[in-house]
Amino acid sequence: MIVDRCRMCLGGVDKVFSLTPTPIANGFTKQPEPYAVRFPLDLTRCRGCGHIQLGYAVPGSVLFKDYKYRTPEAERKRLAEQAIHLSVKYKHALGIDKVKVVEIGGNNGIFTDELNKVGFWSVCIDPAAQESGLPKWFTSKTALTLRDLFGRVKLIVANNVFSHVDDLRNVMLGIDRLLDDDGAVVFEVQYLPDLVAGGRFDMIYHEHKDYHTLKPWGRLLRKYGFGITEVEYLDVHGGSIRVHFRRGPSIDHDEPSVNWQAFAQRVEDEKNRVKALLDASGEQIVAYGATAKACTLIHHFGLQKRIAYCVDYTPEKQGLYIPGTAIKILPVETLTQSKSSKVIFLTAWNYASEIRAKHRDLEFVVPFEKEERLAA
Ligand code: TMP
Ligand code: ZN
Repeated sequence: MIVDRCRMCLGGVDKVFSLTPTPIANGFTKQPEPYAVRFPLDLTRCRGCGHIQLGYAVPGSVLFKDYKYRTPEAERKRLAEQAIHLSVKYKHALGIDKVKVVEIGGNNGIFTDELNKVGFWSVCIDPAAQESGLPKWFTSKTALTLRDLFGRVKLIVANNVFSHVDDLRNVMLGIDRLLDDDGAVVFEVQYLPDLVAGGRFDMIYHEHKDYHTLKPWGRLLRKYGFGITEVEYLDVHGGSIRVHFRRGPSIDHDEPSVNWQAFAQRVEDEKNRVKALLDASGEQIVAYGATAKACTLIHHFGLQKRIAYCVDYTPEKQGLYIPGTAIKILPVETLTQSKSSKVIFLTAWNYASEIRAKHRDLEFVVPFEKEERLAA
């Protein structure tokens, strides 16, 4: 469905950036489906608050119908560190007894687990969580259920979930209902200025409805009586922010504005660079990493027919196809077993050093590699 009103302030929107339409990025198919339905993949900018968002929204019931993502154990270390960080900041400031925490969209509950280990009392609200009897989704309505069950809570956390929810304003209303007067909220989202600085357009796909900057957030929060108290800049997911807010005024933050024309040109240049490298090799091309990013990247660069197959070490993805293509996902061992020479297109570029170290004999073409990541 076309989104003609801003998700944050209901203002009118203008298109600022267009990519080639794609199927849903995580919708790997059992059969090759080169003619699968494509949805528009455009970004718009709100005339009211400046928020950047997708111009076309696939409903959550379709997007997450078969959502298999589980936070991997490999993330536990980072989440454990974050739990300690939050405990230093908030545990004593917010209460002598166990500080109650609700995690919105905590998936399988690893972070909740780590929060409990450092002395918080926390629950995870997510369809993938195991807590019996708790709502699966966080809304203004289920916030009331949670308030009846636990009373108002001191801390609400939400990592990489606000861009996925259908109704962001409803979630804010829920937070207002559930959060104690002196409570705090801490959330992480990908940060648009970092995405743009790195040229990494492939992080745009339908599961991500919002492309975050601080000014629109400040405005949205103000409507509910909240203000940003602190922003941390993180290296995860190609650049993210961790925003802290409470009831009260916002502090101001400077941030770079985006030149969309320059960004579009940069994407075009990268397409030409990658295609030239792949063409020059003349070998069979294999994609490495059946990521959601791969879907945007392959469709926008028009590589559907150039790639022989994709390798990925995730058993659940093996045997399936990259959405909208006949590119089959095979085990990583396929690479080393077959002797024919090949060039690897690294669609999991976020793991470049790790993957390169495992395959020192193979030649890689890595998207965005030339670009230095600019500090936010
Ligand atoms: P992500 O960028 O969405 O985390 O996805 C990374 C994908 O890459 C995931 O499907 C697992 C895969 N992968 C491998 O196949 N081999 C590896 O060595 C690594 C690090 C990831
Ligand atoms: Zn707006």
